[in-house]
Amino acid sequence: QVALLDIDICGPSIPKMMGLEGEQVHQSGSGWSPVYVEENLGVMSVGFLLSSPDDAVIWRGPKKNGLIKQFLRDVDWGEIDYLVVDTPPGTSDEHLSIVQYLSATHIDGAVIITTPQEVSLQDVRKEINFCHKVKLPIIGVVENMSGFICPKCKNESQIFPPTTGGAEKMCQNLNVSLLGKVPLDPQIGKSCDKGQSFLSEAPESPATLSYRNIIQRIQEYCDQRHFQEENTT
Ligand SMILES: Nc1ncnc2c1ncn2[C@@H]1O[C@H](COP(=O)(O)OP(=O)(O)OP(=O)(O)O)[C@@H](O)[C@H]1O
Ligand SMILES: [Mg+2]
Ligand SMILES: [Zn+2]
Repeated sequence: QVALLDIDICGPSIPKMMGLEGEQVHQSGSGWSPVYVEENLGVMSVGFLLSSPDDAVIWRGPKKNGLIKQFLRDVDWGEIDYLVVDTPPGTSDEHLSIVQYLSATHIDGAVIITTPQEVSLQDVRKEINFCHKVKLPIIGVVENMSGFICPKCKNESQIFPPTTGGAEKMCQNLNVSLLGKVPLDPQIGKSCDKGQSFLSEAPESPATLSYRNIIQRIQEYCDQRHFQEENTT
C-alpha cells in the first residue's frame, strides 16, 4: 500500500503524470480522501485543489508550509506501507517543513535525483549537504538521463556528458550510494504526458529494468532499516 504526496506546490506535475488530471479531492468524515490510481496507490497534490491545470499558485513559505501540514494531518491515508514524498528541486521551505513535520516518524531517507552534467551535480551536492544538516539519512542518488541509445543504430551517446565524472564520481567522493542510472528514453516523456505507467508500457526496455533495480534497492534499504530499528529499541 503506497501513498504518493506531491509537495511541489508551485509546479505540481504528479496529477498529470499519474493520469489524474481534473480529479478532485473528496472530503469525508475522516478527512480528505486521496485520489486513487489503483487500489494500492493513493495520491495527494495541490493540483487537485486548483480549478485549472494552468492556475498559478503564488504563495510564500508560511502558506506552503500550512498546506503541507494539512496534507499530513488532514488526509486520511489509511494503513500504508510506504509514504513517498515528491519535492520540488532545491533546499527550500518545502524540504525543511516536510523533514520537520515527519521527524517523529523517523523518515527512512531521501532519494536524490541528478543528471550527469556538472551544473546539475552542483545543485545535488547542496541537497546532500542539506540532508546531512537536518540529519536526514540518504538512501542514495539516481542518475537520470544517463546516456541515450539510438533506436536506429543502437549506438549509445551522451546527451549530457558527465564532464566531472557524473553521479558515480560524486557519490564516491561524498560517500553516498549510487542507486542506479536511468537512460534517456523518449517513451518516458510520452508516458508521463499521457499519464500512463512507463513500466507497463515498455516492460522490457533498459529504463524499466533500471527503475526496477532502483526500486528493489530502496526496498532493501527500508527493510534493513526497519529490522535494525526493531532490534535496537
Ligand atoms: N530518463 C528520461 N528520459 C526521457 N524523459 C524523461 C526522463 N526522465 C524524465 N523525463 C521527462 O522529463 C520531464 C521532467 O521530469 P520530472 O518531472 O521527473 O523532472 P523534475 O526534476 O521533477 O522536474 P521539476 O523540477 O519540474 O520538478 C517529464 O516530462 C519526464 O517525462
Ligand atoms: Mg518534480
Ligand atoms: Zn543512430
